[in-house]
Amino acid sequence: MQRVPLFSGFNDKELRRVAELARIVDVPAGTAVTQIGEPGNSFFVIIDGTVAVRTPVGTGAQLHPGEFFGEMSLLDGEPRSATIVATTDLRLLVVDRSHFWRLLDETPDLIRGMLTILSRRVRRLEQTVHAILHGTNPT
Ligand code: CMP
Repeated sequence: MQRVPLFSGFNDKELRRVAELARIVDVPAGTAVTQIGEPGNSFFVIIDGTVAVRTPVGTGAQLHPGEFFGEMSLLDGEPRSATIVATTDLRLLVVDRSHFWRLLDETPDLIRGMLTILSRRVRRLEQTVHAILHGTNPT
């Protein structure tokens, strides 16, 4: 877990808490881990492997070890915003809805890390929309 950037500032107590509230799941390549429009009940951090993110605006980012997904449905209660497909075999750290808020309450650094990445994803999406509307790469 120490090599996951999201947990990089965590002390031993916080790392132990993550280990207590999460489980490790292995997923074969080709599996759709989330389906757009379906209810979502888990948050995922990639330990090993790569996934492709398919949003309503197309196939976007690939996510790699240390990156996370599935937080949006747990944060706002809405259906999954994207389909996430395993492009390789995966090892995932999975936090279920019942433990998600407890984990956030007990590890403020996780909230900071998540907000930073969410801001980055919004920015990238806005740049993509700009490029689509204007047919150029934004500067
Ligand atoms: P959620 O909506 O719960 O399930 C699908 C997940 O895909 C979503 O949470 C995010 O974690 C992830 N996701 C959605 N849109 C993007 C994006 N533009 N870039 C990276 N990840 C995304």
